[in-house]
Amino acid sequence: MTKKTDKSAPKSAIWGGRFEAGPSQIMERINASVEFDQRLYAEDIAASTAHCAMLVAQDIISPADGEAIQNGLQAILKEIESGQFEFKPSLEDVHMNVEARLGELIGEAAGRLHTARSRNDQVATDFRLWVRGALDRMMGVIQALQEALIDRAQEHAATIMPGYTHLQPAQPVTLGHHLLAYVEMLGRDGSRAKDARRRLNENPLGAGALAGTSFPIDREMTARDLGFDGPAANSLDAVSDRDFAIEYLSLASLLAVHLSRLADEVVLWSSTGFGFIRLPDNLSTGSSMLPQKRNPDAAELVRAKTGRVIGALNTLLVVMKGLPLAYSKDMQEDKEPVFDAADSLELCLAAMEGMVRGLSANEYAMRDAALEANSGAVDLADWMVKTLDRPFREAHHAVGRLVKLGEEKKLRLDQLSLEDMCGVDPEITQDALDILDMDRALAARASFGGTAPKNVLAACTRARERFLKTEE
Ligand code: ARG
Repeated sequence: MTKKTDKSAPKSAIWGGRFEAGPSQIMERINASVEFDQRLYAEDIAASTAHCAMLVAQDIISPADGEAIQNGLQAILKEIESGQFEFKPSLEDVHMNVEARLGELIGEAAGRLHTARSRNDQVATDFRLWVRGALDRMMGVIQALQEALIDRAQEHAATIMPGYTHLQPAQPVTLGHHLLAYVEMLGRDGSRAKDARRRLNENPLGAGALAGTSFPIDREMTARDLGFDGPAANSLDAVSDRDFAIEYLSLASLLAVHLSRLADEVVLWSSTGFGFIRLPDNLSTGSSMLPQKRNPDAAELVRAKTGRVIGALNTLLVVMKGLPLAYSKDMQEDKEPVFDAADSLELCLAAMEGMVRGLSANEYAMRDAALEANSGAVDLADWMVKTLDRPFREAHHAVGRLVKLGEEKKLRLDQLSLEDMCGVDPEITQDALDILDMDRALAARASFGGTAPKNVLAACTRARERFLKTEE
């Protein structure tokens, strides 16, 4: 084994004043976050812009320096966005990369930007802004998926399929009704995002390293400029909690679990055993060996990526659990899980929307499966209760015997003759056979929230009102 020499880098131009030597290579590697936190560049520049404007307004720095800083920041933004900016790991993080470049561009005035500010309130601000943006995007993509589901639900408001419990066919439902179940779940996910955004939206800037500052800053002003509702009330809390990120990951995990269940049904339904749906070509894959295969990889990956999102939540909870107030460098580890979860989720939501919009339903296969499953059994039992005044348990037993008889004769319940039925219970009449008509049975489930096609259509209209109308 070759032993690498751990050479030292030059002293940090930004914080190196009290040091004799620069950090070792190992120190630099473990310390640097710029590889991932460069994703915060737009938020970092926005927060610096607001901070600088406030410093000028409060007479803490001169208007001339303020202008030089603002111009420099805009130039840096352009450099980054056009791919010309070189992020250097030796400068640790996005904040110091931007500040160092500002020094190169405008000279001495750059050194005044960090007045009355610490990287601790800076990073807390940048990261809040980033998570806020992720929440806003999330709400948008959730709605897009809801809209796809509602459109397809409306189209399939009367398409019969078996509804399941224990993955055993239980009662017929409509495909539309089934899809609308997910619209409800996603609606709650969206409302959790909205709640989280409200709690997150406080301005940490001005908390300083941990204790505030002796400069006459105006935190209301920076809050306004950055779209926050107001300044965070306690400086220690402002720099040291990451609950907004944890809350994001919690609601992201729940959302991912919902997507995973839908993805799982797509996998099941598109299997040959079920044959209920076919995914569009552009969202299916083939097998390298088996020419006949058509695999639902996208759905499987949506199901699997849930693991990453839940893992990210776990990571951040564990990072935070033992930290004393206020900031500790541990918190630098907050970003990658959040970025990864957000990327995964946004991709999953888009993939799911594509699958929902593109899938074609095999209505015959679904209807057959519902018929084969004798899913009208409970309707027959209910008929015996209502018409023959039988106790439900007794009716349940009689229908059970009819099902068994059908199995022996290789017939479904609705295919048994009246004589066959009367052999089990002599009081059964032709009316009972009509009850087994699946379309009638379905239309009868018209209680609020039930699966009757008429209900499903009304539910689609309500869902559009409730979830897709843009608020003022
Ligand atoms: N890169 C750091 C982070 O993301 C910025 C804050 C550094 N603060 C400090 N006191 N060293 O957490």
